[in-house]
Order: sequence, then structure tokens, then C-alpha cells
Amino acid sequence: MTKITPQDANKRNLELCNTAPVIPVLVVNDLSAARGLGEALVAGGLPVLEVTLRTSCALDVIAEMAKIKGGIVGAGTLITPQDVKNAVEAGATFGVSPGATDTLIDACEAEGLPLLAGATSASEAMRLMERGYTVQKFFPAEAAGGAPFLQSLASPLPQITFCPTGGVSLENAPHYLASSNVKCVGGSWVAPKDIVKAKNWAAIEILAKDAVEALS
Ligand code: 3PG
Repeated sequence: MTKITPQDANKRNLELCNTAPVIPVLVVNDLSAARGLGEALVAGGLPVLEVTLRTSCALDVIAEMAKIKGGIVGAGTLITPQDVKNAVEAGATFGVSPGATDTLIDACEAEGLPLLAGATSASEAMRLMERGYTVQKFFPAEAAGGAPFLQSLASPLPQITFCPTGGVSLENAPHYLASSNVKCVGGSWVAPKDIVKAKNWAAIEILAKDAVEALS
């Protein structure tokens, strides 16, 4: 494994944010849905896919989605060093966490996995910045103050770029993206549970395309 520096992680995370305006946050319960779901999102213009480690098949879903041409697959809900190891083994090329601990950050750096770590307050954002992480997830975005909160951080902490996630929708995403410190958003609205369950990949592709069209 090749270690990664915070600076490399920042660069990688900015690349991800510049690839598409939305990172789909995926909670996949059915491994047989992985390929179709991933392919539909990629075809719709959202190639950066965050598969949350919240289901028993999540690691297999990552491995399956990692085979999709044009897809960039990461693991979300990273909590422990073991999660990081598992994610890397499965083929994840980036990691996302709801918050941040030194243990988790150390593990990601050791495993060479760029981490998009979560912060919810000025202090948490500053703490991550002390460790070198200037591209951060803002979670849970809507519950923690939404776009006005992030806009308020832009003046005192202009060095930090955020990817807000949690309660973000097609309707409120433009408010976040209007802020100078936001380059992309994360959200599950492009992969609603019922549509994934029905394996209606045409509908997923339309949701992805709508997001790209409205938010690019
Ligand atoms: C999550 O961790 O579940 C993400 O932040 C997605 O939140 P959402 O389902 O509100 O988009």
C-alpha cells in the first residue's frame, strides 16, 4: 500500500468535486442491484459513487461497481480502521466519513485512501484543517444549519471547501452551490429506495441527468 498525504487527499477530493455536481450517496441492500444502479448513475452523468458501509453487502457492491467503466467508486460511512482496510480491499478509491477521528485519519493515510472527512462546526473544520484537510464533508448539512451556515464559514475559513451532505435535494442544492466554499454536494435523492428496489434504471438515469442539468 502507498501512503497518502492530506495534500494528496485534498487534491483528489477537489477532482471528485469537479467531476460532477452531485456525489450519489448509496445505501444498497441488494447486491444484484449494484451493476444496474451504478451504470445508470454513470450514464446519467454522475460517475462519482459513494457506497455507504451500512448494509451487509456494501463491500461486494463496491467491488461490483468498481468494474463499471467510467465509474469512480468510494466507500462511505467509514468509522474504523477495519472499515478502511475493507474498503480498499473491495476496490474503493476514496473514502467518506460522517465525522473524523485521528484513528480514522491515520488509517486512511496509511492505507492510501483519500478521505473526505466530515465536520459540522467551525471547530471541527479547523481541527481537520490543522491535520491538513481543507476539503471536507459538511454533515448533516440541513440539520446543522444548511447553506446559510456554510456561507457564514466562507469568510473566516476561506481555505476550506465543503461537500454538504445530509438532507440535500435537487431543490436546495443550488443554495449550497451558490456559496464560494462549496464545489459539489452529496445526496441520496438520485437513488430513491423504491426506484432502486424496482430496478428502474431508466428512472435513475433521468434523476441523474436532471441533477446534472440543474446543478452544473
Ligand atoms: C447520509 O449519510 O445518509 C448522507 O448524508 C445522505 O443523506 P440524505 O439521504 O439526506 O441525502
